[in-house]
Amino acid sequence: MADKAVDALSENEARDELARLSDLLARANRAYHAEDAPDISDADYDRLKRRNAEIEARFAHLKRQDSPSEQVGAAPAEGFSKVRHAVRMMSLSNAFDDEDIDDFDASIRRYLGLSDSDPLRYTGEPKIDGLSLSLRYEHGRLIQAATRGDGSEGENVTANARTIADIPDTLSGAPEVLEVRGEVYMSHADFADLNARQSARGGKTFANPRNAAAGSLRQLDANITRDRPLRFFAYSWGELTAPLAETQVQAIARLKDLGFQTNPLTSLCDGPEQMLAHYRQIEKQRATLGYDIDGVVYKVNDLGFQARLGFRSTTPRWAIAHKFPAELAWTRLESIDIQVGRTGALSPVARLTPVTVGGVVVSNATLHNEDYIAGRDSEGNEIREGKDIRVGDWVQVYRAGDVIPKVADVDLGKRPKDAKPFEFPTTCPECGSDAIREEGDAVRRCSGGMICPAQAIEKLKHLVSRAAFDIEGLGAKQVEQFYTDGWVKEPADIFDLKEKFGSGIQQLKNREGWGEKSANNLFDAIDERRSIALGRVIFALGIRHVGESASNLLARHYGTWSVFESAMLEAAPMEGPAWDDLLSIDGVGKVMAQSLVSAMNQEAERASIDRLVAHLNIQEAERPATDGSPVAGKTVVFTGTLEKMSRAEAKARAESLGAKVSGSVSKKTDIVVAGPGAGSKEKKAQELGLTVLDEDGWLELIGG
Ligand code: IVH
Repeated sequence: MADKAVDALSENEARDELARLSDLLARANRAYHAEDAPDISDADYDRLKRRNAEIEARFAHLKRQDSPSEQVGAAPAEGFSKVRHAVRMMSLSNAFDDEDIDDFDASIRRYLGLSDSDPLRYTGEPKIDGLSLSLRYEHGRLIQAATRGDGSEGENVTANARTIADIPDTLSGAPEVLEVRGEVYMSHADFADLNARQSARGGKTFANPRNAAAGSLRQLDANITRDRPLRFFAYSWGELTAPLAETQVQAIARLKDLGFQTNPLTSLCDGPEQMLAHYRQIEKQRATLGYDIDGVVYKVNDLGFQARLGFRSTTPRWAIAHKFPAELAWTRLESIDIQVGRTGALSPVARLTPVTVGGVVVSNATLHNEDYIAGRDSEGNEIREGKDIRVGDWVQVYRAGDVIPKVADVDLGKRPKDAKPFEFPTTCPECGSDAIREEGDAVRRCSGGMICPAQAIEKLKHLVSRAAFDIEGLGAKQVEQFYTDGWVKEPADIFDLKEKFGSGIQQLKNREGWGEKSANNLFDAIDERRSIALGRVIFALGIRHVGESASNLLARHYGTWSVFESAMLEAAPMEGPAWDDLLSIDGVGKVMAQSLVSAMNQEAERASIDRLVAHLNIQEAERPATDGSPVAGKTVVFTGTLEKMSRAEAKARAESLGAKVSGSVSKKTDIVVAGPGAGSKEKKAQELGLTVLDEDGWLELIGG
């Protein structure tokens, strides 16, 4: 259903519409500021806000107490104190089809060095669509409850958690310290009741149970939470002073004995075949469970194996979430806009007649690239049986979880007679520069670099985003304003703002939305970020293919900006030790390495980075806690066959003890671990007089 024109709304419709907009905007705020997962674009956000303001202007008496126009997109949870998690709260990697589950099993076997016939069991349980919560018990008493936040630091919601009936206040027979983790959720029935109650008294209604659960738990007034029917399933744990059990199922049974609710659909599976059967079983029951789930989580059952498998930067290797298929809806494609991104990519965006897909109103969807619109994949093969997509078409929209919706299919039977094939632009719609498509690249890119305002603005927006500089008061909108005013043309200009305008606060003050206080707050917030973590700086540069977790890996690997910087310069020829060292980082592939090294060696880009870095005090990256580790800071090379563990496991283990694992032997190598069949590397090590150990010697050194 399309948004009805504001002029045409009746009073009742306007009231409903204000409620709906308030919900959507609150959700967007939460998703953006608190949940790590923006679910609508900035443009959409602005459109919703504008519509809300227009309706309020016409029906002033209907303006809500919680009107979104009174809120400035700040985190709704401001006011909760922060809690540092003793053990990081992880997320899960995702699987979408059966093959991914075979791959998951195969990679675990490989890592653990198990053969196909060795027994390896998994638990399978529903993935609850709520929000995760960590409960800390000391001496059997609940002392703290915290949301996940960014995984390292969450919000202290202890008072709220105490109001939830499923969460025991005291435990008997628990380890001295026990952190229980699980999901807070709301049942369908309770959600419907709550919304009915809310609308009966003119209050805010929620778009779905997950929102309702999040909004209810994160109330500053715990008495409101008390009135909301929240529930909790325990499925995991954080810090422990004594192990709960030897296996995942036993540990869950133990949590149940301690008084927690655990999911009754948890079962043990012997391998991929049984996992998939369990998945189908749960999928069948999905509609009648009475609460939202969005997939099935599989976990390696043996906790000893879990410990060996350990974690990647944000996800465990021993678990995976098998998501249910995406949700679909049909609607009209009204137009195709071309957006220019941070890296110059021209991205076609479908503007759709708004349609509800899985409880969320969708009015924009991605069309990927020009081939996709034309009905081809990047290799020129037909997709959608070769059907192209045209403005005016009736299209199928697909949305899975938090990902951006996409146009998946087109109904040729409903194509308007005058619809014409879409002509993809060959010049940048923002700056007019040629838009070039290089061989092998699916994407056409604007060649304007920083002279293209769209690229420059997107780069700046990325720079101030949450995982990068995260400057309070300097969001996408302000960046655009400053760019248009000519105040901030490149990253370094942000840190010059005060010098330029400190005396000119007047100028800023006169701008819409700025007062003396907010201007000073902004300058303070900028100053606060002059001292910043290395991983954030690397991420902030906005280099293609270098995301948040890769940036953190790079930071941990190189430690300091100057080491990182000189390594990137040394790696310029894309061969030699610095290049090999970069590629040896688990999680850095060739494509990312090439992109990183070329960006860091590109003259104009380098000059701009140098100007930025000159303003900063970049903190040394936190290395894994390696107190007392005999191999901390040592460079280790593994060669030959390892018999007690796989290469990947050996490498991860060594790195977790603070060692640097390299692929080639040089003077800088400290230890070479040589298994049977080791050849030239072992020889070279001996020539250089390095310490050479066999696998047992290595295990002895690191304590087994
Ligand atoms: S285990 C270290 N089990 O899904 C592993 N997570 O997408 C921690 N979730 O942040 C997670 N149901 O909030 C696990 N049965 C389940 C779950 C579950 C829902 C959530 C959890 C996590 C998110 C990751």
